[in-house]
Amino acid sequence: MSNLVFIAKESLADETRVAASVETVKKMRSLGFDVVVEAGAGALSRIPDAEYEAAGARIGLIKDAKAADVILKVRRPTSEEISGYKSGAIVIAIMDPYGNEAALAEMARAGLTSFAMELMPRITRAQSMDVLSSQANLAGYQAVIEAATVYDRALPMMMTAAGTVPAAKVFVMGAGVAGLQAIATARRLGAQVSATDVRPAAKEQVASLGAKFIAVEDEEFKAAETAGGYAKEMSREYQAKQAALVSDHIAKQDIIITTALIPGRPAPRLVGRDMLKAMRAGAVAVDLAVERGGNIEGAEYSKVAEVEGVRVVGYPNMAGRIAASASALYAKNLVTFLETMVDKDTKSLALNRTDELIKATMLTDGGEVVNPNFVDPDQPTIKKGDL
Ligand code: NAI
Repeated sequence: MSNLVFIAKESLADETRVAASVETVKKMRSLGFDVVVEAGAGALSRIPDAEYEAAGARIGLIKDAKAADVILKVRRPTSEEISGYKSGAIVIAIMDPYGNEAALAEMARAGLTSFAMELMPRITRAQSMDVLSSQANLAGYQAVIEAATVYDRALPMMMTAAGTVPAAKVFVMGAGVAGLQAIATARRLGAQVSATDVRPAAKEQVASLGAKFIAVEDEEFKAAETAGGYAKEMSREYQAKQAALVSDHIAKQDIIITTALIPGRPAPRLVGRDMLKAMRAGAVAVDLAVERGGNIEGAEYSKVAEVEGVRVVGYPNMAGRIAASASALYAKNLVTFLETMVDKDTKSLALNRTDELIKATMLTDGGEVVNPNFVDPDQPTIKKGDL
């Protein structure tokens, strides 16, 4: 009998994305899976049930999750959803595990073998499974589109018979995946773009996109990148020097887009009220870090806040605002990972628990929280035999 994959309709109110596309349903069918898509799961990503059906899926209800061997989701399942899954089922989603240890314990108790896509190692083999990149890239693009919508002027320079509209000045803070796409998008729209980051590797990437790089390039900057390619939390001294340098620059900008994050830590505060106050009338700021505490003082979750005369866009889940594209890429990331769990000869699930991708992303298995980042060292681990 074939293994069954269930594609859930997301229960979180603001979640517009879905964990399968027409293409990935076809792929799962070719891998030997039966696929059930919960009715309406793709609606907000513009994938009608009929298209899933034509690709070989059956349209079902939430109760069909009970029979599923694999559940694919965008967000971590709620308690109610967990209670509808069978013990031993594989659940793959963006799990947001940090600070949510109780939810992980709940998945363990339910006997789920759960995986957090955002813990995927950033190695060449796993690039096509990297949800942080696929979603951040779209978020960076969408941040510029949102800024352009709120900004009451044009972005490109326009020379017309009625006069000249000057190019907007856009400053991108944090030049990782989202920031680099924001730079590229703002450049395509004709803005004059500059950017900053604390990682030296970002300097060349920013320049190669045709933007000006601005940063305090001292000894700390030269050592700011971890072996994993991420930023370190900077010292107070560095942050003060950085603030002094960028505050003059920000005063001359029309739009700022902040994307700065440090893994496992709150987002660094980069823009204070004083800096916003120095910007000219009509200036716009977009804070892509709002879900992690925000880079901009006064940014409000899920709102366009007016702070010192600047409109500060604080939308969470920016990739979800471009849901059809975000779902297509996310679904592809998922199916590529799922494929590594399939025995091609028998066309059935065969989880290789020694594979580095499995080890890095697996949160719970066999009734326990197994990921070393989330096993509480003070709690004795309950082994299966003890229960
Ligand atoms: P992220 O989402 O963790 O952070 C966003 C950006 O904010 C980073 O560039 C970071 O350096 C910057 N930042 C942190 N603190 C800052 C501060 N105080 N001021 C200014 N900027 C600050 O990073 P993301 O987007 O995940 O990328 C991190 C790196 O990983 C990049 O170099 C990216 O190119 C690389 N990467 C490598 C991949 C691979 O090899 N497979 C895949 C994806 C990304």
